[in-house]
Amino acid sequence: MPAITASSPGKVILFGEHAVVYQRPAIAVPVTQVKTKVSILAEPQKSSGSVQVEAPAIGLHTNLDNLPADDPLVLAICSTQGALNLPHLPAMTIRITSTIPVAAGLGSGAAVSVALVRALSAFLDHPLSDAKVSTIAYQVEKKHHGNPSGIDNTVITYAQPVFFTRGQPFELLPVAEPFTLVIADSGIKSPTILSVADVKNGWQENPAYYDSLFDRIGEISRQARGFISKGPCSSLGPLMTANQNLLKQMGVSCPELDLLVATALDAGALGAKLSGSGRGGNMIALVAPELAGKVSSALSQAGAARILVTLVHQTQPA
Ligand code: PMV
Repeated sequence: MPAITASSPGKVILFGEHAVVYQRPAIAVPVTQVKTKVSILAEPQKSSGSVQVEAPAIGLHTNLDNLPADDPLVLAICSTQGALNLPHLPAMTIRITSTIPVAAGLGSGAAVSVALVRALSAFLDHPLSDAKVSTIAYQVEKKHHGNPSGIDNTVITYAQPVFFTRGQPFELLPVAEPFTLVIADSGIKSPTILSVADVKNGWQENPAYYDSLFDRIGEISRQARGFISKGPCSSLGPLMTANQNLLKQMGVSCPELDLLVATALDAGALGAKLSGSGRGGNMIALVAPELAGKVSSALSQAGAARILVTLVHQTQPA
């Protein structure tokens, strides 16, 4: 029997990170240049329930029983089994590979959950709906990120640009004109849970100040929705830079990200900001396609650990 496989893209948040935790709208887009792949192979010669998990990049080669109950892989597998009402799993080997950098704001955790739930439910002959896949990935995120908004699991499940407000139905965004993003990794690993907790502390100490930052960011996301779906996409640039200034005031940028933003703007980017939880991870810059090479070189020289260039465009639902 051939292996069953499923893949998920990475993602970047274009507008609205952090504010989205507090019910303001945000926009995220898939990044297809990086992906997580999960393959599942039946092991009929092994006894029922034997689930071997292999993730060579992190040196993981073990039986599922050896992982802690709150491990994200265990949570995703058990939730899928629960959703399908299956008392036992057949013997299998699950192999996970990923080119999405970890703790860099590109959605590596949600991508593993989404691909794993999809591959496992297909392997068990009951492919789950996108809504169910996203819900399970969200449950896993909740255990590991404290208070996730749900934007990561949503954009990665649907692999299309999304306009997302916590607690409300999300919108899949049409893209009027394709646009190019340069994504530069600061090289600093930044756990989401820490910056989300710091913003919460700040908000609790000074709610009026933080709420006004969140409101202004939410307004930027609303304006950006119009430019993405109707054009012109070049108008997204100044909105990105304005969003970055508000994130700086929120205390989630850092000198390395500020340098990457300034470098991208100096090299001709139309706008630039951090993406994700901040304090490290990635910076994104909107560029005219012909300037992608120049902006990328400038960012490399400024110390970016890795550069990706992605085209955001209209994708047809599968
Ligand atoms: O760093 P990431 O890609 O996990 O993004 C976190 C985005 C936040 O808005 C800071 C948190 C959230 O759950 O939306």
